[in-house]
Amino acid sequence: MPLNTSAPAQTGEYRPLIVAFCCNWCSYAGADLAGSSRLTYPADVKIIRVPCSCRVNPLFVLKAFERGADGVILCGCHPGDCHYTTGNYYTRRRMTLLFSMLDYLGIERERTRVEWVSAAEGAKFSATMNDFARTIRALGENRKLRDLRCGN
Ligand code: FES
Repeated sequence: MPLNTSAPAQTGEYRPLIVAFCCNWCSYAGADLAGSSRLTYPADVKIIRVPCSCRVNPLFVLKAFERGADGVILCGCHPGDCHYTTGNYYTRRRMTLLFSMLDYLGIERERTRVEWVSAAEGAKFSATMNDFARTIRALGENRKLRDLRCGN
């Protein structure tokens, strides 16, 4: 069943569906800090906590788009700070390849992003999510991979 909740709300305002994969050790803690510091970010952002950014198989990103996500963002520890030492280096390489493939499929480059957010960067987490949500709203609904959605 498609996850897409990006259909216009009753008010007519477009609400995108944004999936944010956050590593447990830095970015998720950064999101927590944003919350406890009363910094806001859009409710359109749905956080999925993962042990490390490298846990995100590129297929997860494709699956999110297939199921109706309008944007997907990956957040992890800063390079050199990964709890598992080198996990985010794998993430960086994998996502570079995936993003160029998405480009080939016609999914706008701006619909995906990788950001490094530490546990002490609640303000950066909030600012990043607000900026990403603004970008996705400007791009509008993601219509690519719609054919695949029909099969669900
Ligand atoms: Fe955060 Fe690896 S634990 S990126």
